[in-house]
Amino acid sequence: MLSIVLIGTGNVARHLFDAFSDCDSVQIRQVIGRNKKALEYFHKTTEITSDYNLLVDADIYIIALSDDAINTVSELLKLSNKLVVHTSGSVTMQRLVNNRTGVFYPLQTFSKNRRINFKQVPICIEAENEADLAILHKLASTLSREVHEISAEQRNALHLSAVFVNNFTNHMFTIANEICGEHQLSFSILKPLILETTNKIADMPPFEAQTGPARRNDTGTMDKHLQLLNSKNQKDIYSLLSESILKTYEKKL
Ligand SMILES: NC(=O)c1ccc[n+]([C@@H]2O[C@H](COP(=O)([O-])OP(=O)(O)OC[C@H]3O[C@@H](n4cnc5c(N)ncnc54)[C@H](OP(=O)(O)O)[C@@H]3O)[C@@H](O)[C@H]2O)c1
Repeated sequence: MLSIVLIGTGNVARHLFDAFSDCDSVQIRQVIGRNKKALEYFHKTTEITSDYNLLVDADIYIIALSDDAINTVSELLKLSNKLVVHTSGSVTMQRLVNNRTGVFYPLQTFSKNRRINFKQVPICIEAENEADLAILHKLASTLSREVHEISAEQRNALHLSAVFVNNFTNHMFTIANEICGEHQLSFSILKPLILETTNKIADMPPFEAQTGPARRNDTGTMDKHLQLLNSKNQKDIYSLLSESILKTYEKKL
């Protein structure tokens, strides 16, 4: 049995709490957070506190806080010889000042009210020594079939890639939603297209999956689209992405 303390009450802390609560081999001893209202979510089944002096004993302390808070809060943990990890894709392990440190980065997008099947979430782990890596491997395996030991440099690259596939893609959905709204169209009409766009890359490389006016170099259609867009920001994004697609395929046209 592994025991853990969760530090933080945000999206990731909630998802980890729900997932670990379903595991017989992990005991959540405590949840710590400064936000008393958010702490209420956890208090039915575990101890909660906002006071770092009341930290209980556990095998692993998981800091699931905003990137900028990780270092400051790790300084508040008066622990000796305990494994402390954070859940960030872009913060180095060295930002943790504790004597045994690591990373427990779940590569997924977490929002509070959406349930995630953790079995399919890649968990990227890192530790300063082999023994702690083995402990994190054991912990991650209780949640997921996909556990990856990766370096800090690889984690940064993964996080950067994740920004492109998730954050930027979602921003494209937001723009499409605005365009639909301006023309009395429901965004729902685009949902089968969105689903097929992501489903198709399960079977073919993204390079091959690309379609559209820029892929075909249909300059007339691209000009028409640019005229249809109202905002300069949307025109700039359309032009930049179209140019990137044109450059990617120019030798193939
Ligand atoms: N969300 C994702 O999809 C995702 C995926 C993988 C990894 N991560 C990583 O997981 C970590 C947590 O992300 P999240 O999405 O759970 O963030 P979040 O929902 O915004 O929650 C952030 C948590 O940090 C606390 N916090 C912020 N500043 C603090 C400070 N100065 N002192 C103490 N507590 C502070 C917040 O408390 P208050 O409520 O009081 O502000 C809240 O509990 C980040 O490192 C993130 O990069 C996120």
